[in-house]
Amino acid sequence: FRSIKTLKNSSSTLLRRGYGSEAVPDRKVAVLGAAGGIGQPLALLMKLNPLVSSLSLYDIANTPGVAADVSHINTRSEVKGYVGEEELGKALEGSDVVIIPAGVPRKPGMTRDDLFNINAGIVKGLCEAIAKYCPNALVNMISNPVNSTVPIAAEVFKKAGTYDEKRLFGVTTLDVVRAKTFYAGKAKVPVAEVNVPVVGGHAGITILPLFSQATPKANLADEEIQALTKRTQDGGTEVVEAKAGKGSATLSMAYAGAIFADACLKGLNGVPDVVECSFVQSTVTELPFFASKVRLGKNGVEEVLGLGPLSDYEKEGLEKLKPELLASIEKGIKFTNNVV
Ligand code: NAD
Ligand code: LMR
Repeated sequence: FRSIKTLKNSSSTLLRRGYGSEAVPDRKVAVLGAAGGIGQPLALLMKLNPLVSSLSLYDIANTPGVAADVSHINTRSEVKGYVGEEELGKALEGSDVVIIPAGVPRKPGMTRDDLFNINAGIVKGLCEAIAKYCPNALVNMISNPVNSTVPIAAEVFKKAGTYDEKRLFGVTTLDVVRAKTFYAGKAKVPVAEVNVPVVGGHAGITILPLFSQATPKANLADEEIQALTKRTQDGGTEVVEAKAGKGSATLSMAYAGAIFADACLKGLNGVPDVVECSFVQSTVTELPFFASKVRLGKNGVEEVLGLGPLSDYEKEGLEKLKPELLASIEKGIKFTNNVV
């Protein structure tokens, strides 16, 4: 434990928010896929997070360079790089939070589901190692298709006897980040004040932003809400097309991943009222996994919050997304159980 005073010089407002003069516990965060497009800026942002005491950077190649580079930054955490499967155990041991941005990204013309064949196997292997080396860690799944990779992780953990639904999260924060940005632009309100829940899943029409609940309130026309909804749903594709074959969102994703991991750490540390949207095991709808607002706590998910009042347009969107989301969930489950 290091006291807040020791850390003050190198800290940001992140550290001071939610803490009095209490000690900040040691926390190990592992990033799997740390040398990738998301992994590198995410490693940087986690190095800047004063809640992290140990930062473990794992990839199948190139992590020694990334770790050496990031390790020179004069902030709290100690950084170690691990490369290759034989070092995965050491990378994971003792982790409180494991963030997974490992796997291939989309190219123009592809759907997230087109990544399934490669990424399902990568995620399965990494989750088998998590079950073995840090079964109590909170897992932040970024690898696509999130609608299937989260169910894959759940099945792997069930098989290993380590599954705890409170500790598995699909990271949908980028949808929230986009919805906030696009809403602020259209509603002409300060972006820093905006809140918009985004529910459902993380692909196309399964992404359902609830602009009827957006704050600060603005009187947007139905067509404007529909355009904002479509832009949020197609936000990933907008970046994939702009990058023209050089991958998908990495910088905005690293930002979103860092926000979500920070929320997990705050929850673990007992900060009250930490709420973020995430794709988790859920009874909010009849689907076994669903993204909605989640209260984070010392054990991970403290409470999965309901949807709140929906507009007719949102109710329609919710019914429309269910078949696609369910099919993606079932595909993940079947893959893990070797049925496909
Ligand atoms: P990238 O190709 O730049 O990086 C991926 C990294 O994963 C590479 O460094 C690669 O070596 C590593 N990797 C591959 N197999 C591995 C394994 N078995 N163990 C550890 N590392 C492994 O891709 P990227 O742009 O960083 O995207 C990564 C993933 O994140 C993609 O699947 C992408 O679709 C997804 N993504 C999700 C969101 C979201 O909102 N959830 C947003 C953006 C991207
Ligand atoms: C995103 O939303 O940016 C990611 O899921 C990457 C993608 O393929 O769109």
